[in-house]
This record gives sequence, structure tokens and C-alpha cells, in this order.
Amino acid sequence: MKPAQKSTPSVIVIFGGTGDLSKRKLIPAFYNLFIEGWMPESFNIIGLGLEDYDDAAYHQHLLDGLVEFSRSGTPEDTKWHAFKSRVHYLKSDINDPVFYSTLLSRLQQLDQTRGARADRLFYLSVAPHFIGPITTNMGRVGLAPDPQADRIIIEKPFGSNRETATALNNMITSTFPENQIYRIDHYLGKETVQNILAFRFANALFEPLWNRSYIDYVQITVAEQVGVEQRGSYYEGAGALRDMIQNHLLQILCMIAMEPPVSFEAEEIRNRKVDVLRAIRPIKQEEVYKYAVRGQYGPGWLQGKKVPGYREEPGVKPDSNTETYAAIKFYLDNWRWQDVPFYLRTGKRMQERTSSITIQFKPVPHSTFPDKYADNLTPNRLIINIQPQMDIRLRFTAKKQGLEMSLNPVEMVFHYDNATTKTPEAYETLLLDALRGDATLFMRSDQVLTAWDVITPILENWESHDSLDFPNYQAGTWGPENAEALIARQGHTWTAHTMGKDDPC
Ligand code: BG6
Repeated sequence: MKPAQKSTPSVIVIFGGTGDLSKRKLIPAFYNLFIEGWMPESFNIIGLGLEDYDDAAYHQHLLDGLVEFSRSGTPEDTKWHAFKSRVHYLKSDINDPVFYSTLLSRLQQLDQTRGARADRLFYLSVAPHFIGPITTNMGRVGLAPDPQADRIIIEKPFGSNRETATALNNMITSTFPENQIYRIDHYLGKETVQNILAFRFANALFEPLWNRSYIDYVQITVAEQVGVEQRGSYYEGAGALRDMIQNHLLQILCMIAMEPPVSFEAEEIRNRKVDVLRAIRPIKQEEVYKYAVRGQYGPGWLQGKKVPGYREEPGVKPDSNTETYAAIKFYLDNWRWQDVPFYLRTGKRMQERTSSITIQFKPVPHSTFPDKYADNLTPNRLIINIQPQMDIRLRFTAKKQGLEMSLNPVEMVFHYDNATTKTPEAYETLLLDALRGDATLFMRSDQVLTAWDVITPILENWESHDSLDFPNYQAGTWGPENAEALIARQGHTWTAHTMGKDDPC
């Protein structure tokens, strides 16, 4: 079946068009949408950058990115030629107000050649301090005047705390209405994350159990093997709390904990998600140590290679206090989740790359089986593996084959298509949604601000008290030991999520 193509023309303008994100993610995403027939029949992409490129040099730069990073690999000649003929480069100084008039003329010229006005999508892949000035200049010359057709995508980080995020919001919304602003959190575009909504709300089976009566605790883990690589100077001002918890992990938590929405309308889904953030019990400054653990990796071994500690990475201070690991215990004050702990953890340079969600159900209220058989009576567990393994597994207890009533945990597994090249990348999903004007998977301003509220006490506490034991975990391990203690107080352990492993990690 041919995909439903957007019928009206579009023009996409990428601020930061020569940057890393464009090369690794944005252009490969547009290219894959194009070859699979999802792009509008008529479209143009204009990349903006400071480099002295002409179109040909820009195309070569993008082609190198496609060869290295696209899920579809090296482009076929004919397809690449068809794609690149729509991609142009414009040298830009985004600090120069005159440049915005030049850009407007370019867009008008393309409209004239095409004989129709294109919808305009602006992607702001720039450092946060440029966002305010860019949107102000865009408003001044009228680059995105139509709220129905013109949209602006803004990359994270959206501010660095509640105050800066509010100031940024105010600056943007003094020029553009909220419905033109698409704040991106790429985790929401991941196939497996979107499937949480289908799993919960397209099945009648799980929802009646999805509450404090049946669920013991929830764990959300996003473990990375990569370190900070070349991003040390950004990461020094961010840390795991700002970089991952404030956005990606809290968004996953929202999808797990939200109430069933009445419809699939963007505002309805976003309302239900923001309700979750508002229900998170505030953590008192003086109690942060009871709810949150931070870590920083030291040197260690990963996949047989020695890797440096965080403090030895380029752009990082030798006595840095920035956390590369965070584990937090949240509670939600509402009827559904009262007293159910939600454990969130994320870290760099961890033993494995894995993102997963564990829903741990309570044990059976009474064991019918004699003790000698009941040893293996393990409570049910649902594991949603987001990446790199993509599956949903339900653990339950079954009888072992044989003459005795012996019990054993077994799993029912739903695997996504193993051919990962077919799975759209998060950016493909999100860019297509933005082209179509569907904001469901984008962050509304109140979501972003409430997420800042949730982490503010931890942020302030950690920033005002240096951690005396950093580095406190070795690269290639599962993080600091006190993360175990954080959840051991409730009698819980962090669970493993990969095939065949069922032991604590
Ligand atoms: C980004 C963070 O938002 O997400 C990075 O800034 C992190 O530090 C990345 O590595 C992880 O994304 P993914 O899709 O590789 O899990």
C-alpha cells in the first residue's frame, strides 16, 4: 500500500544544517521518508550554516552522513540524485538581522517557481542561547506567519532550569503561538515507546491490573555504553539529571502512569501526561538523599577496551562535580499509584546498552502449592524493552513438565520485526508528524516546565553540595553501589532486561 503522502508542498529550513544532528539524524530521516514515499510530492530542504559551501559541497557533506548513519545504508544513485536536487545550502549568519530577509526572499522565490506557497517547517538545531534571537528575527520579517501551515521545531535542552525555560518560553511565545512550537523529545518517536500507548489502551487485558492493587513497583532504565565523547563542554553544564531524566525518562514514566485518554487528540494525550507530572510527590531538599543517588564514572573497561574516566574526557574539568549517572525514586500522589515506587535510572559508560521498563506485579496473595513446589513461585513481571532489544515479555509461572507439580517461571514474548532496518527511526516519525501538523508526540510548554519542577529540588541540592566520592563507579559496571541501597530499602533490586537473564544486575 502506498503511504498517505502530504499533498501540500513543504519547505524545511534547518538552522544548524551543517551540524552533527543534521548529518546523523535529520537528513537521514528526511531521506528515508523520501525513498519510502512519505515526503510531500513537492518539497525543498534548505540547510543553513556558517561554512563556505555551495550546493554541491553541502550535498557531499550530507552524503557522507547518509553512508555512515542512515538505516538504509549507502543511497542508490538515482534516489540520491532525486533527493539532493531538492536540497539547497544557504550560508548564514544567524546573528545578522539582514540574513532573515535574505532567507525570506529565498522562500518566496521557491514558492514562485513552484507556483504555490509551501508550508514552512523550521528546525532549530542550535545552542539554546540562539533560540530566542532566531525566533525574534523570524517574527520580525514574517518568516512563519501562518499558524496553520508554519511550524518551528526546537531541540532540547529547553532551558537549564525552570527560570531559564520560562524565560525562553516567554521569548518564543511573544512572537509565535504555542501551537506553532514543536518541542522535540526524540524518545517519544521511538517505535517501542509509542507502542506503550497501543499496549495499554488497545488491549482490555492489562488496564484492570494497571494500578496499586496489582503492581508492586515500576523500573525505568536507560543505560548507555557511550561516554560523553566530544560533548564534554555541553555535558558539564547538564549532567544526567538534565540530559536524560528531565525529558526522556520522565516522558516514559508519563506514558506508563497516565490515565486512559478519551481520544487520540494531541491535547488530550498531553493533558493526561502532564497530570502525571503534577502528581509526582515533591521531594524535599533535605530528603533528596533518601530519593536520589548520583554517580560519575571513573576509568574502566568496556568491551575489552580501556576507557577513560569522565574527568579525563575532553572539555571536562579535572574536579568536575557533574553526574553521569542518576537513580531516583518517585511516588505519585493519586488514586491509581499511591505508594507504588517508580524507580528511574540512567547512566553513561554502563555495562550494557539497554533501555527498558519493568512492571513488577505483586505476588499471589496465598500459595496453593506445598513449599517444596512453591520455591519458584515468582511474581509476574512485564518487561518492555525499548532498545536495542525491542520486545515485550510477560513472565508467569508454569508447571514444569513431568510427574510432579513443580513450578517454573516462563516467558511469553512479543518480538518486533527483527529486520531493524525496517523500523523507522524516532526522527522519521517525529519529522513526519511535524510536517503534518500533529503535535501529539511533542512537548507542550507546561509539560516542560512541570518536568523542571519535578527535578528542581534534586538539581539544587546536587549543585549546592559537591559529591565527595566522585568518581564512584567504574566505567563498564552498573553504576554506584548506593543505587542498590536506594531501592533495597523497599526490599527491591534493579532487574536485568535482556534475553535469558532474570537475575538482579
Ligand atoms: C540525548 C542525550 O538526548 O539522548 C544524549 O543528550 C544521549 O546524552 C541520547 O546519549 C540517547 O539517545 P538514544 O536514542 O541513543 O538512546
